[in-house]
Amino acid sequence: MFCCPNCKQPLTRLEHVYRCENGHCFDIASGGYVNLLLANQKSSKNPGDNPTMIGARTYFLNSGSYSCLSDHLNHTIDSLCSANSSVILDAGCGEGYYAQRLYQQLTNLGKSVQIFGIDLSKNGVKSASKRCSSGYFAVASLFDLPFADNTIDLVYNVFSPLCPTEFFRVLKPDGYFVAVYPAARHLFGLKEVLYENPYENAEKSFELDGFQITDKKRVSYTMDLSSQQTIYSLYTMTPYFYKTPLSGAERLAKLEYLQTEADFWIITYEKTAG
Ligand SMILES: C[S@@+](CC[C@H](N)C(=O)[O-])C[C@H]1O[C@@H](n2cnc3c(N)ncnc32)[C@H](O)[C@@H]1O
Ligand SMILES: [Zn+2]
Repeated sequence: MFCCPNCKQPLTRLEHVYRCENGHCFDIASGGYVNLLLANQKSSKNPGDNPTMIGARTYFLNSGSYSCLSDHLNHTIDSLCSANSSVILDAGCGEGYYAQRLYQQLTNLGKSVQIFGIDLSKNGVKSASKRCSSGYFAVASLFDLPFADNTIDLVYNVFSPLCPTEFFRVLKPDGYFVAVYPAARHLFGLKEVLYENPYENAEKSFELDGFQITDKKRVSYTMDLSSQQTIYSLYTMTPYFYKTPLSGAERLAKLEYLQTEADFWIITYEKTAG
């Protein structure tokens, strides 16, 4: 299913490499993933989330605090996938939490599914490949997806950058895109500790060119975070980590317990005729 980033021809998976008909080869790492990011597609030596952010995300997600979101996402995707073999892409898969739980859920329901994941972060993809060993993972950019046109049944994206033109290109004519966005009250309790005057997230229009919205679901609940490590790992995986005044970070570092909101939108889009 992956395409060669050089010539766009399909890649065939051999024992240790992916190879295209023009002889371009990409090693399969011992963890099972492949690096399809060309040197000229990199903005830095190690683009995407760094190992600290990936580690924090894994610790936090393993605490189960976002399992409710993951369950709702799985339910949404299940309702859109037929029992026949579906090809699903996690665009911006991070360390693979959602891909692994989705694969588990769909196969438990007896559905045949192939899950692909791409992310710019090599550390993310390495972890994802380990977490979801039945999936196919590549280091790649979602602004230049390594897939042919009209080949994927469903693309989903949790908190990662969006590239609707690429999602449109790779989706089959009747394909779906499912996006998770933070809603207004997301992590408000965390922001109340970090900032003197926290703001709610601005609600935005969910419209995307080339897509029609077919469903909007809001998932909101309260999280009780009961250790400093869980609180700190949540903080480390958010953008606030890079833009919080020292005083706010110090207040947070003293907490052993934090109650904060989880507030998400799950938006389903159908590919339009174009
Ligand atoms: C907020 S994290 C979300 C990760 C994962 N979906 C999750 O929720 O656990 C955003 C992810 O987008 C990735 N990312 C950023 N720019 C990207 C790009 N151009 N192409 C692919 N991934 C990208 C980062 O490396 C990071 O893993
Ligand atoms: Zn090639």
